Amino acid sequence: MSRPLYITTPIYYVNARPHLGHAYTTIIADVICRFHTMRRAETFFLTGTDEHGDKIVRAAKQEGLSPRAYVDKISRLFRELWPELNIQYNSFIRTTEPYHIKVVEYVLQKIYDKGDIYFSEYEGRYCFGCERFYAERELVNGLCPDHKTEPELIKESNYFFKMSRYQQWLVQYIQRHPDFIRPAHFRNEVLSFLREPLEDLCISRPKSRLEWGITLPFDNRFVTYVWFDALLNYVSALGYPDGALFKKFWPYAQHIIAKDILKPHGIYWPIMLKAADIPVYKHLNVHGYWNVEQSKMSKTLGNVVEPLELKNVYGLDAFRFFLIRDMVFGLDANFSESALIQRINSDLANDLGNLFSRVLAMVHKYFDGLVPDVDPQAEKELHLGLTSCALSTIDEYEKEMESLAFHRAMQVVWEYVNRLNKYIDMTAPWELAKKKSTRKQLQVVLHNLLQGLGVISGLIYPVMPDTAATMQKHLGMDPQKPNYLLDSLRTLTTVATGTKLPKSVALFPRIDPDKFKRSVEYTDETGVPATAVKPEITLEEFERLDLRVATVIKAESIPRAKKLLKLEVDMGEKRTIIAGLAESYSAEELVGKQIIVLANIKPAKIMGILSNGMMLAAVDKKGLAIVTLDKKVTPGTPLS
Ligand code: MSP
Repeated sequence: MSRPLYITTPIYYVNARPHLGHAYTTIIADVICRFHTMRRAETFFLTGTDEHGDKIVRAAKQEGLSPRAYVDKISRLFRELWPELNIQYNSFIRTTEPYHIKVVEYVLQKIYDKGDIYFSEYEGRYCFGCERFYAERELVNGLCPDHKTEPELIKESNYFFKMSRYQQWLVQYIQRHPDFIRPAHFRNEVLSFLREPLEDLCISRPKSRLEWGITLPFDNRFVTYVWFDALLNYVSALGYPDGALFKKFWPYAQHIIAKDILKPHGIYWPIMLKAADIPVYKHLNVHGYWNVEQSKMSKTLGNVVEPLELKNVYGLDAFRFFLIRDMVFGLDANFSESALIQRINSDLANDLGNLFSRVLAMVHKYFDGLVPDVDPQAEKELHLGLTSCALSTIDEYEKEMESLAFHRAMQVVWEYVNRLNKYIDMTAPWELAKKKSTRKQLQVVLHNLLQGLGVISGLIYPVMPDTAATMQKHLGMDPQKPNYLLDSLRTLTTVATGTKLPKSVALFPRIDPDKFKRSVEYTDETGVPATAVKPEITLEEFERLDLRVATVIKAESIPRAKKLLKLEVDMGEKRTIIAGLAESYSAEELVGKQIIVLANIKPAKIMGILSNGMMLAAVDKKGLAIVTLDKKVTPGTPLS
């Protein structure tokens, strides 16, 4: 049995609905947790919501609710979303719960009694968005680096936590424990921050300014700074100081966060733990940011991605797989629906889905759905290194999962999927099926393929638990007995000879990009797709586009292409353009219109016709509208 695991996500602010970023962190935690169960480890998975502070009061006001009613409402959205994404947390903590408040009071008192908290007057630049003071050197051109607003100069008496006292200790601790903060570039970021003198942390807010918080146990005129309150969730959830869960799991604590909250987790939190005489956590695992169509996800841009919409359109496991496969843990990644569709069609529908249905179809066709037995001699001939390949796949997968290289772990599995696909091509079972004399060989080939699929069904379990279960059911495995354990997968015997297999299913339907792409639209209130603005370009780059006015001379439909029209245009010269207009315009109404054409786009063959130019149009929910001019101009006139 391997070591226990305590895994946590950040507790999310309840000032916004859950989105793709929250879903990613929580899915990663779920993947890690499930992976540990494959090694028979005992696990405890914590998530929850961060409910105090100014941010929350302001959000509640905007909705016309009391803070209490507001936090109840949004916290429920998070709590109810996670099971929909197949996330199996053990506990959901809310910082407004009495047991958590007690722990915060206890720790504050303990540190206060030790002399690590002092009262002092302070004048500084305060960002209300971040709910904290900023040192001058942290500002960018005098502005808050997050909110791009000028922090207000505030003079106030407050309580301070003597973080500076522990600075040297922390530097040494990080140096002696190279995998304390990982990946390494985030560890270096923390170390480089610690090269400057650390300022003491203001840990109180006067009640005259903020009431929605935990009252300081030693001065009831103040509430606790929200980060000091929030970070303690990781121990209060386990029943610190005396709880059995705390004793059992805290020594194995691993936090998952994104880079935005590296400083509180990499600096404040270990120092708070040290000051409170609590052993520090084991690992801080930091991932990058998901951007959407190359831009930061934000309400203002209207490009916030809702996890449930994606689940409903593309299926939960496909969504989970994409997130894990397309982000290198520790680096930023870009979310786009086309990338998601491509990933589904290539890795899931083509590679894995086809392999699975081909193999099961052959078992039904040639063996009446019964898992064939193997003849040892034929097995030797037709093995072609599959056993060692399966075993090295499991080993490598385990290594990559452990080192947080989840995308690599999936690549390793897919290399094996493709190896099995090649094995089919090399052994050509349909040829073996033609002769009685090669029956034994046919048995071996299908037997090996079924065992291979048994291994794959286990390895995908942390990322795609539903698909793993479906595969195992169709491979005749007992749904009551988990076959996800790594040691059982290593036996390569999880599919039992002689079992009657149920009929095959399509694991992942192929997605037609044209049909699906716009089904999840990021719209603003007016319903216009608010796809994020693309990265900046220079005038020179824009001038490379040759945009021209063209008059439509002839328009006709194209057989077997419902959406397309073929246009003959006069652009100073005659050109043919194929455009997807047929659902919004009839051929007749286009003739005589002046349109705008990108004249220097590389010609492309569409339905066997060479299209030489691309016309400009706008697409919204109601359909497509072409770009025209409000006066007639000479055909071929360039746009500038
Ligand atoms: N309440 C604090 C955390 C306190 S933990 C003691 C907080 N909450 S938050 O709601 O803003 O959540 C931040 C976290 O959400 C990030 O660290 C990350 O886990 C996740 N993400 C939010 N946006 C994200 C992306 N665009 N991409 C990836 N993850 C992101 O900070």
